[in-house]
Amino acid sequence: MSSQSPSSPILRDASGALVIVSHDQVVAVAHDPAGFSNNVSRHLQIPNGLDGPAHTAARRLLDPFLAGERVNALEPKLAAIAEELVAEFHDGHSFDAVAELGARYSVRAQSAWLGWPAELEQTLLEWVRDHRQAARESTQGAHADVARRFDEIVSQLLQERRERPRHDVTTELVELRDEDGMALSDEQIISVLRNWTGGDLNSVALCVGVVVAWLARHREHQAQLAALAGKDPPEAAQLLDHAIDEILRADDPFVSNRRRATNDTSVAGCPVASGEVVVLDWRRANRDPAVFGDPDSFDPQTHAAANLVYGTGAHACPGRTLATRELRVLTQALLGAGRLVMDGPAALRREHDPDIIRSVRVRIEG
Ligand code: HEM
Repeated sequence: MSSQSPSSPILRDASGALVIVSHDQVVAVAHDPAGFSNNVSRHLQIPNGLDGPAHTAARRLLDPFLAGERVNALEPKLAAIAEELVAEFHDGHSFDAVAELGARYSVRAQSAWLGWPAELEQTLLEWVRDHRQAARESTQGAHADVARRFDEIVSQLLQERRERPRHDVTTELVELRDEDGMALSDEQIISVLRNWTGGDLNSVALCVGVVVAWLARHREHQAQLAALAGKDPPEAAQLLDHAIDEILRADDPFVSNRRRATNDTSVAGCPVASGEVVVLDWRRANRDPAVFGDPDSFDPQTHAAANLVYGTGAHACPGRTLATRELRVLTQALLGAGRLVMDGPAALRREHDPDIIRSVRVRIEG
């Protein structure tokens, strides 16, 4: 499929699945959890794969871990991580903003949040790389191996905390009780952490690439945002958050999610059989000219309400505040360090998936 803006509200992908691409239809399906279930995987997915009351209960239990006050408390640590990483690139040498900056930043930020040891960094970086590779190859064996390795890493961390509780989010998960007073099983905690990790490690690293590539290509906007980055919060912080959201809207690396029809129905006049899986294409919906006009225009205020980078409806991203703060703090550190310039003609996109920036080489000019 091309990355063109949608002209038809639906498409068929290579596997024959119905892909919903227009903004209004994507929003309609995302807001119809009774008609379109999130139960699309064989694996336990908390909260992603749950529907109805079970989903509501899981969100009520888990969302507080990602609440604003938690993120505020984490911010000084995020700032220290960002400053330390960006300092490595002060001398003007060229670096890859995805692999050398985004991936490392997201692993360190997540480890700071969850209380995971710094020594896990390399293991987690390798795990993210292999997870991506397995998703691309889509073979059972590769998926099973990657899942087993994640289970092993997390089981060890849970075991350590059962033996010696710490003041960290991972210990809190071990000690958490649901509304019936029951502790979560290891399988449930691992599922929660897999979904948090999927959001944090995969998405944030890719978002860093998108933001850096955009800033390096838009010198004037970069200068305006750099001036903002030095101003007093909270107004400047909010403007920067909106700017980052808008940059991600136009080049959304969190491409799609799936739903399963719960009965015979139709989308944009196309029949959908009960049990059929449909794809919500956030990326194309975020570039729908019927809503955003020129999809590449930069208009954070006007476009904010319709922006779908973090989804919409009951399953909208609970990690939005954390992700936005991670991205803002890193962007502030970069803009404060000097001028970001492209080192090469363009960002490189994935061969099998040209929607996604896989590498962008830049320099910081002091
Ligand atoms: C820039 C980074 C991120 C982007 C673009 C992003 C995007 C999204 C989107 C579009 C959804 C909706 C999925 C759907 O409707 O099926 C979602 C759900 C979710 N996100 Fe994020 N996310 C990001 C970061 C994070 C972080 C940092 C976390 C947690 C640490 C997180 C945890 C989750 C979870 C658990 C869900 C499932 C919610 C549910 O099904 O109720 N995400 N995310």
